[in-house]
Amino acid sequence: MIRIAALALVASLLASSQACLTAHIARATKDSTSSNCVSSSVSANRKFAIKNAEVFNGSGFQNAQTVIVSNGKIVTIGGIIPAGINTIDGTGKFLIPGLIDNHVHPASCSNLAELAGYGVTTAINMACLNYTTCSQLKGQLGTTDYINAGEIACGTGSVHATAFGVPLAEIIGPDTDLLALVDWTFGTGSNFFKIVAENKGPTVKQQATMVQLVNRHGSFAATHATLIEHCDQAIRSKADGIQYTSPDGLLSTAQISQIRSQGQFVTLTMEFYRLAFSNPALAPVLGFNASCNYSNTQTNFANMHAAGVSIAVGTDSVGSLPGVINYPFGRLLHCELQNFLDAGFGNAEAIQAATAGAAKLYRLYDRGSIATGMPADLLLLNSNPRREYHWVGGVPVGTITAQKGQICDPTSLGF
Ligand SMILES: *[C@@H]1O[C@H](CO)[C@@H](O)[C@H](O)[C@H]1NC(C)=O
Ligand SMILES: *[C@@H]1O[C@H](CO)[C@@H](O)[C@H](O)[C@H]1NC(C)=O
Ligand SMILES: *[C@@H]1O[C@H](CO)[C@@H](O)[C@H](O)[C@H]1NC(C)=O
Ligand SMILES: *[C@@H]1O[C@H](CO)[C@@H](O)[C@H](O)[C@H]1NC(C)=O
Repeated sequence: MIRIAALALVASLLASSQACLTAHIARATKDSTSSNCVSSSVSANRKFAIKNAEVFNGSGFQNAQTVIVSNGKIVTIGGIIPAGINTIDGTGKFLIPGLIDNHVHPASCSNLAELAGYGVTTAINMACLNYTTCSQLKGQLGTTDYINAGEIACGTGSVHATAFGVPLAEIIGPDTDLLALVDWTFGTGSNFFKIVAENKGPTVKQQATMVQLVNRHGSFAATHATLIEHCDQAIRSKADGIQYTSPDGLLSTAQISQIRSQGQFVTLTMEFYRLAFSNPALAPVLGFNASCNYSNTQTNFANMHAAGVSIAVGTDSVGSLPGVINYPFGRLLHCELQNFLDAGFGNAEAIQAATAGAAKLYRLYDRGSIATGMPADLLLLNSNPRREYHWVGGVPVGTITAQKGQICDPTSLGF
């Protein structure tokens, strides 16, 4: 039932999109009948040690380190392992912080479990379409930590307002009380604010007002901007974060230097575009016109990276929408990191971007590195990206053995 509804939603979205992809967030399937994602017998109340591992320090690996975890947190790095505690031999293995997906759309416990299975320990849900579900997914022990934007701030008659059934009171018209809207969004427990720049979207003035109001809440605003003209609106509104990179052409040097000088970050979602353009039949179905291609996004990425723009790591994963797209949770983050390597990031730079860098840009100062007091969101790698164990908040989570070449092959995803 739910999958069919989601499919119809995407179909209506696609039918109404006129240029490049105007909207592609979709509700993933929900299974939120239970309020606990992980069985209550799971406990982070354990103490264990990892000995003799190569430990990631932000720029490289330091050898033969011991990391001791207790109550879901890293309590000691180095030093003597107390007698009698469970000890995992990390000899010849690499310990990195849990990965963060800066733009993803999990909507159920099973979506979180899938993310956790790929070592993604924090998921930033880029739109909350149901505050009850969002609050249920927060703070679940032993699975991916869930952080969410509010309901999308979109305009009357826009594709997003229609396709996602945004409640009338939350759609922005000329007379909308933006202060009340922003207060409402944070009153629902949202961690940050999402604006949608598109045809019939909020005006640049309204977007700028919302950004200021959000900043007064001590939070940040991220703006959906899939085309150059919408990216330009996000620049003029001084949104803290810009989501996507334009496939319809190249951002100008002036635009890129303004993004840089305003301290805006950009969440590129390169893998979204790579897959969308991997099948010539799919691009038009997704609403991309002939001016759009993956090469434009790659050049925009390279130009922004060269200019020193802060880049976040996101996938826009929505799961499987049969017959339309398959953007699996977790797996795509590894492919996104491969895209970063292809763009010239070093291994350590890419790991840092998906851990401490991702945390800092999204103002999550309580995670992202292997340090005393940080949560035990840890991945022990045999070799990158193959994992043996990983722990989310100190709870052991399953392993995967998929190889890089296979997991990022579009044909393996049905493209
Ligand atoms: C594609 O859409 C963009 C944005 O609306 C427009 O500027 C461009 O002319 C279109 N290109 C083609 C080939 O239709
Ligand atoms: C991190 O590890 C690398 C490689 O061993 C080393 O060169 C660097 O100095 C270390 N950085 C810190 C802050 O310890
Ligand atoms: C939101 O989710 C809750 C819990 O999953 C559900 O009971 C409710 O019907 C949903 N609301 C809407 C408007 O879909
Ligand atoms: C990509 O599209 C741009 C127009 O937006 C065009 O100039 C360029 O040649 C295209 N590149 C490729 C590789 O198709």
